[in-house]
Amino acid sequence: MTQAGPVRPDVSRRIVLGVGGGIAAYKVCEVLRRLTEAGHLVRVVPTEAALKFVGAPTWEALSGSPVSHDMFAGVSEVPHVRLGQTADLVLVAPATADLLARATHGRADDLLCATLLTARCPVLLVPAMHTEMWEHPATQHNVAILRSRGTIVAQPASGRLTGADSGAGRLPEPAEIVELATLLLHRGDALRADLTGRQVVVSAGGTREPLDPVRYLGNRSSGRQGYALARVAAQRGAQVTLAAAHTADLADPAGVEVIRAGTASQLREAMLKAAAHADAVVMAAAVADFRPAVNHRSKIKKTGADPEPLSLAINPDVLVELVRSRPRDQVVVGFAAETGDSDVDVLTEARAKLARKGCDLLVVNTVGERRAFEVEDNTGWLLGADGTQTALPDGPKSLLASYVWDAVAARLTR
Ligand code: CTP
Repeated sequence: MTQAGPVRPDVSRRIVLGVGGGIAAYKVCEVLRRLTEAGHLVRVVPTEAALKFVGAPTWEALSGSPVSHDMFAGVSEVPHVRLGQTADLVLVAPATADLLARATHGRADDLLCATLLTARCPVLLVPAMHTEMWEHPATQHNVAILRSRGTIVAQPASGRLTGADSGAGRLPEPAEIVELATLLLHRGDALRADLTGRQVVVSAGGTREPLDPVRYLGNRSSGRQGYALARVAAQRGAQVTLAAAHTADLADPAGVEVIRAGTASQLREAMLKAAAHADAVVMAAAVADFRPAVNHRSKIKKTGADPEPLSLAINPDVLVELVRSRPRDQVVVGFAAETGDSDVDVLTEARAKLARKGCDLLVVNTVGERRAFEVEDNTGWLLGADGTQTALPDGPKSLLASYVWDAVAARLTR
């Protein structure tokens, strides 16, 4: 068995939080709050323009550290060199069109740009600007240059921008930015652009099978693992479709097309359609194996007599159908949440399931008290149809997602 890794421990880390001069700076207060609550030491370095949107006292109070944009403040500590040199991560949000341009040209005309030049840790720039500015060839050219140098430029979200307009260029939600930052602290190369030009489809969440207009058969899946897979794939350059069944209250991942599919039958339809031209498909959804044989048109009433026994019908196995109908060279990944039992261990069960389903890779989680469902972290194994077996380290679901995409990318041969 191989061990994916190495993983850097999730302890208090030094983060430089650069803030550009855009209205989305107000949302970054929440990013800062979440990072400090996670125990990280955050130094905020705003641009002069950023301070027109959110003032230094707010950043100082939330970070507990002094804040300056000025190269000539505190010169004895040489902050323009030291901040970048000692950081474990430099995160810039919002990264405006101007800031991207200055970073591309290696300018050092304020403390933030000087910090970008001295940083040797992962650098994550999270753009936010109007759609026209984001799509302008100058900005896209800058982004391409930055990415070619190893700087991670996140995909912006689509949606409401400042004022009435809407489109690509919106700052991703604070929780999503923190998830990407946390992933990079665990694994600096987790967001390399190896899925650029690839089309991938991911399913997430738990299906609900209706019994009558108010009741259903469901399961405990929160959808977090599937959302993390979609988010990481989009940030690694893929064009991503996410078929989402029922989930916890999760924000749509930036740059991902989300299709809602509540029942197993709806999910089957959405997946078969989306997968027809995809390079890779990941079935992370918890699909109900059975549905009530009858979906009553009106609410089943208490009559005082013993209730009718519930009769069930079997649902289609979506993963098996996807494998059977897949185009040549498509990589298909399944998930298995196993408890094992006294006779058969988890990995033996999972190997048999991998063979039964016919997929290329199977992610295996152990289910138990506070494991796999409704929790932030995940762990397990990745089994390959070629006989490989990789232990996945304990960590955030986005970390597990990054290892799954590594294995998928290695199998994409077209
Ligand atoms: N799956 C599916 N359609 C179903 C049931 C499961 O596509 N009707 C997919 C899941 O999305 C997952 C994989 O099959 O990727 C394994 O799901 P799991 O529930 O572990 O397997 P089952 O086939 O239901 O086997 P069992 O419940 O007997 O362990």
